[in-house]
Amino acid sequence: MAYKLGLIGHPIEHSLSPWIHQQFMDVANIDGEYKLYEGDHAKLPEVIQQLRDHRIDGFNVTVPYKQVIIDYIDELDPAAKALGAVNTVVNQNGTWKGYSTDGEGYVRSMKEQFPSLLNEASSVLILGAGGAARGIYRAFIQQNVKRIDIANRSEQRANGLLELRQDPTVSTVLTLQQAESQLNEYDLIIQTTSVGMKPNTDEQIIRLDHLHPDTIVSDIVYQPITTALLKDAKQRGAKIHHGHAMLLYQAQLAFEKWTGTNLDVGHLVDELERKLRGE
Ligand SMILES: NC(=O)c1ccc[n+]([C@@H]2O[C@H](COP(=O)([O-])OP(=O)(O)OC[C@H]3O[C@@H](n4cnc5c(N)ncnc54)[C@H](OP(=O)(O)O)[C@@H]3O)[C@@H](O)[C@H]2O)c1
Repeated sequence: MAYKLGLIGHPIEHSLSPWIHQQFMDVANIDGEYKLYEGDHAKLPEVIQQLRDHRIDGFNVTVPYKQVIIDYIDELDPAAKALGAVNTVVNQNGTWKGYSTDGEGYVRSMKEQFPSLLNEASSVLILGAGGAARGIYRAFIQQNVKRIDIANRSEQRANGLLELRQDPTVSTVLTLQQAESQLNEYDLIIQTTSVGMKPNTDEQIIRLDHLHPDTIVSDIVYQPITTALLKDAKQRGAKIHHGHAMLLYQAQLAFEKWTGTNLDVGHLVDELERKLRGE
């Protein structure tokens, strides 16, 4: 069978998802297409109808429709329900089921690069409390790490993440300044804000003066590939983890849900980096 896959969002003309999923189809020797379904808010009902008319097998959802798409979904998996956001939809015989693959995709990308990092002794700091941070926080809760702190500009938004806890995971909400002063307490620091993203590539969410060189610093921003924060961390001797790895692994998980194919995608991390650099 030829899979009919796609992406809805606005704007999406520069999305790398068609390239990524074409690579997956090629590696898996699966026949199919991944098309862009672009439309602003006024066109959303029409775009949704197109997806139904095309009998799409599955699609991704990106900004600004990750929440509003829920109105069109028949069933939600537990992560999507808890987060109130969907980035992947599977069409099961006409029933649309919504998933959120960002958090689990992030954890997969981290385990791939640093297999022994996450255990019951690990302390993690998340910088940011937006949609991506929520998915990552929820996924880390399920990893049974020792502690997951959150630092965000808006304290109220950071407190909102604590509601995702299913058990008394040890988490403290910090200001960005408090986080800066206790950076040496963490095994992993995950930057999830949009600070440092193109065109503001000189911006850095916190100073790293108190960074321990054994700490891994991760930034989910992937444009540029190496953000100012990651450059700084590398210069201080820390190990770094790039945002495009998360992009690839959240796509791997979506592809798995659509096709039932569990692909090894590690070799595509460097290819995706070259693609992002425009090489
Ligand atoms: N690698 C991937 O696969 C992947 C996946 C998803 C997202 N992303 C990237 O992650 C970033 C965040 O996405 P999102 O969907 O979570 O966005 P979002 O829901 O809009 O959240 C934005 C976050 O950034 C913070 N922020 C924005 N400007 C700031 C500033 N000037 N100073 C301090 N904090 C600031 C916000 O803080 P407040 O709460 O205080 O406003 C909030 O924590 C984007 O750059 C996106 O491209 C990457």
